[in-house]
Amino acid sequence: MIENLEKEALAEVMLAADLAALEVVRVKYVGRGDGLINSLTRVIKEQPADKRAEFGARVNQAKLNVEAAITAKAATFGKVEQAKTLAASAVDVTLPGREPARGSLHPLTLVTDEIIDVFARMGFGVETGPEVESDFYNFEALNFPDDHPARDMQDTFFAADPADGKPARVAHPNNPDKWVPALLRTHTSPVQIRTMLRKKKPPVRIIVPGAVYRNDSDQTHSPMFHQVEGLMVEDGISFADLKGVLAEFARAMFGAKAGIRLRPSFFPFVEPGAEVDVSCFLCTEQSRSGCRVCKGSGWLEILGAGMVHPEVFRHCGFDPERTQGFAFGLGVERVAMLRYRVPDIRLFFENDLRFLRQFA
Ligand code: FA5
Repeated sequence: MIENLEKEALAEVMLAADLAALEVVRVKYVGRGDGLINSLTRVIKEQPADKRAEFGARVNQAKLNVEAAITAKAATFGKVEQAKTLAASAVDVTLPGREPARGSLHPLTLVTDEIIDVFARMGFGVETGPEVESDFYNFEALNFPDDHPARDMQDTFFAADPADGKPARVAHPNNPDKWVPALLRTHTSPVQIRTMLRKKKPPVRIIVPGAVYRNDSDQTHSPMFHQVEGLMVEDGISFADLKGVLAEFARAMFGAKAGIRLRPSFFPFVEPGAEVDVSCFLCTEQSRSGCRVCKGSGWLEILGAGMVHPEVFRHCGFDPERTQGFAFGLGVERVAMLRYRVPDIRLFFENDLRFLRQFA
């Protein structure tokens, strides 16, 4: 009887299709109390005295055999269940991990840092100034007369007073009764004034990287762009020094063969003034004819420059009779476009990763 029960139990264990079915078999045969094999322990004492020990041992053995078979079978279900769970969660733990996306510097930051490095090697320190500026520093102290047409050349964004939306005004630094417009600076040149007023006397040898704003937008003009201003005011500084510094910059930035060309130009804060071109790197590498970058001219405009105007020195408390210096202002986007051959300035500001990843 015990043998038959054990055989039946083992057969049912073998046939159990899942953990639930196996549990039914366990309760049926070896369940505490009512399990068919377990309940035989209750009839041990009814056995004849000389058979009792043997009967008890066989019941116990049958119970152990069935329990061992159930444990072994459950283990096989465990593996199947685990595999099913993994498949359902669709995670292949054997795949190699994915590296987190690493950021990189923006091309304009890379170029700005490079420009700063070049001038730092020539002894220039870095200054910065506010982007919301007073008309005094942006125009007046730079010798732009009130109604001068040169003000229109730099389409200005004026600040509005948040209280009433009317044009915002700030106190004139030299005349507390006079209020002048607040505006987004149109160039980095106001930092020339701020620095000279602070230093009170020469020498001054600074560059000023920063964002500037103009109401201007097309393939080569952006309403927000970046400039690096340069200012060198020291005893005996001449136009030759300006040429030397800019030629060195062009070689460091665009290669040993790069040259510069100066064309006369007008800015109210310099005299004489010039627009400065750098020789086209594509043309010097290839032929001079039909280059798309410089439109076949062999030259590319990158900055404005000149000798600081005596009126500017006067505004800053420097003696114009005894002081000489030069200044320049270059467009960072222009340099980056040449450097990386980028055809449209707007690409720098669209945050398209396909573009930005090329500089990582
Ligand atoms: C100036 O802003 C003068 N402050 C430069 C200067 C400084 C002259 C010191 C003399 C002495 P200009 O408006 O030309 O000059 O601008 C300088 C450079 O900024 C240009 O050569 C050009 O590269 C860049 N630039 C001008 N407008 C834009 C614009 N809307 N988008 C991108 N770059 C611009």
